[in-house]
Amino acid sequence: MDAFIDSLMNEMTVEEKAGQLTLYTSGWDVTGPVLRDDYMDELRAGRAGNLFNAHTVDYATNLQRIAVEETRLGIPLLFGLDVIHGYKTTFPIPLAEAASWDMDIIEKSAHLAAKEAASAGVNWTYNPMVDIARDPRWGRIAEGSGEDPYLGGLIGAAKVRGIQGSDLSDPTTILACVKHFAAYGASQAGRDYHTVDMSDRELRQNYLPPYKAALDAGATTVMTSFNEVDGVPASGNKYLMTEILRNEWGFDGFVVTDYTSINEMVPHGAVANLKEAAELAFNAGVQMDMQGGVYSQYIPELIEEGKIKESDLNDYVRQVLEMKYKLGLFEDPYRYLNKEREQSTLYAQELMDHSLLAGKESIVLLKNEPAGKNSENLLPLSKNTRSVALIGPLADNQKDMLGTWHVAGDESKVVTLLEGIKQTAPNVRINYARGAGFNGDDKSGFAEAIAAARRSDVVVMAIGEDYTQSGEAASRTEIGLPGPQQELIEAIHALGKPIVAVVMAGRPLTINWIDENIPAVMNAWHLGTMSGKAIAETLFGDHNPGGKLTITFPKNVGQIPVYYNMKNTGRPFDANNKYTSKYLDVSNEPLYPFGYGLSYTTFEYSNLNLSSNELSAEGSITVNVTVKNTGKYQGKEVVQLYIRDLVGSVTRPVKELKGFEKISLAPGESKQVSFTITNKDLEFYTRDMTFKSEPGDFKVFVGTNSAETLEADFVLK
Ligand code: BGC
Repeated sequence: MDAFIDSLMNEMTVEEKAGQLTLYTSGWDVTGPVLRDDYMDELRAGRAGNLFNAHTVDYATNLQRIAVEETRLGIPLLFGLDVIHGYKTTFPIPLAEAASWDMDIIEKSAHLAAKEAASAGVNWTYNPMVDIARDPRWGRIAEGSGEDPYLGGLIGAAKVRGIQGSDLSDPTTILACVKHFAAYGASQAGRDYHTVDMSDRELRQNYLPPYKAALDAGATTVMTSFNEVDGVPASGNKYLMTEILRNEWGFDGFVVTDYTSINEMVPHGAVANLKEAAELAFNAGVQMDMQGGVYSQYIPELIEEGKIKESDLNDYVRQVLEMKYKLGLFEDPYRYLNKEREQSTLYAQELMDHSLLAGKESIVLLKNEPAGKNSENLLPLSKNTRSVALIGPLADNQKDMLGTWHVAGDESKVVTLLEGIKQTAPNVRINYARGAGFNGDDKSGFAEAIAAARRSDVVVMAIGEDYTQSGEAASRTEIGLPGPQQELIEAIHALGKPIVAVVMAGRPLTINWIDENIPAVMNAWHLGTMSGKAIAETLFGDHNPGGKLTITFPKNVGQIPVYYNMKNTGRPFDANNKYTSKYLDVSNEPLYPFGYGLSYTTFEYSNLNLSSNELSAEGSITVNVTVKNTGKYQGKEVVQLYIRDLVGSVTRPVKELKGFEKISLAPGESKQVSFTITNKDLEFYTRDMTFKSEPGDFKVFVGTNSAETLEADFVLK
């Protein structure tokens, strides 16, 4: 590889080198502002070495042919695409799939999505997005794994393994891209693209670990974020791109900017013009310019003027060419462009089956109580139920079930909830009414919905957000049910019928009224192609839900940020003391805590014990707990382990997730679950910023969610 790239680079002009550091969107699809439509001329001139939003074998083959046959050096293109939760076959949105806490499922979704995209010419995906987020106003919370750095790291690593596999030259694997580096999820007030400012300690302790974990899993590329960090936009931030990424973490792949984020350093106020922007980004350690066009325009001049070094240019180009080489593109530029493979891979049964499985495992049961005077919980519904009113804008809806960033997902393939119920419970009469939309205040559909509910034994309300109401540039300041849906559910509730609320959304919604008034509530996110079937099988008991939230659900927007691994403060909550940390109008408790999720069965935790109450620096402690299925159904439970370090040279969170195990138990069955704690689990950024543990007292918590746990103590010697 080195010899091949050396000889190729010997042939290259500075313009051609800058071209290899340039990425343009094709005219196929647009995921941001369009700055130029002359990318074809640039491509032919060797000034555009990479394209994104160009896919399908037919479309990409033509572009690759131009690169290989019509440019002077014939260097093949990278084809990037945001395959975030599926290419054609759409899997649950990332925030949903995180709720499965199932790394095998997550890795397989990433692998199948990569394989499907690879069959359509894509060899680079902008996934995983591992931004920790604690603010559900931010629409992009849908794209990540939630609020926890440890879980976020495991998920990011699983995705990288799934996308890249063990051999990049295998044409079913592609390049992963860890994004958005760094701390994009901490945008102030949850407003997209907004400022991020946090201490270096907070950055390293809570925000950087998932990027690092994904890179340790072998991720080959990194994307910068739109935001600034400590006053410097990420795309010009040398501390992030060189000091941390290269020098501390040893990253040897390449960094691409986010969409025009080099250019955006001008409005950020970090540079006066685009030429300075190119210089700042280049010298910060950013290899590739996405869509900005400034590298191809200014690199030659900047070299000429000595403002950037030719040796850096050569290093950068080498990093990009190495990836092309590793993918096998120099050997065969068309290896991702095989029409037969494309046809046999798109929507293959294996993908559809996995979409259904992942969908079911992502569903979180938030509440399940008896309706009226019945003694049984409302869910699961009986397949002998005579009639169900299916009401709401997500009931017979294909497009919105795909969720944000569904790139090539074809809505006509989506199983709606209406269709899913027909397939799952064919004897149930369904009285369907849309009732309301997602915007405005049109209530003209209410009467039909009320009539449908009146004629039915049970009501299923399919409510929440449409696919545009979360994701990029989709922040909201009120995060209740959008449009007239809240009024709709209140009107239906007034009829006194048993109601199941199925909430589908890309973020936590403030559904307090529903929690108080509706006996059964299921959070079904946006589950992708097989949504309706996954939900219907869960409603009617073919599947017992076991998903657990990876993001705290606030009671209202004023509580935000509310997250489980918070600090205790000097005046922790005390109901009897006015001068403690609380609100006058709402409790400190969230609506649903991190790790929360119910099952149709019940689990009892007992016998929490530690193999020792003392841990030495080289030793370990085994934590054992007995979990028993005390209900009537086979069920899955995510057993969660948290730790608290009681005293530190810097204060420590009240709880930190350190382990979990997803188990399955038959009714009456018990199982002992064991975790091992070592010194490594107790390390953090201490007062002087060294990453280590400190001797002292610790608490261990094990339980069904972050708020309901058994406790024990140990001492680190
Ligand atoms: C998003 C990225 C995405 C890129 C390319 C940007 O607007 O922030 O996440 O990968 O567009 O589509």
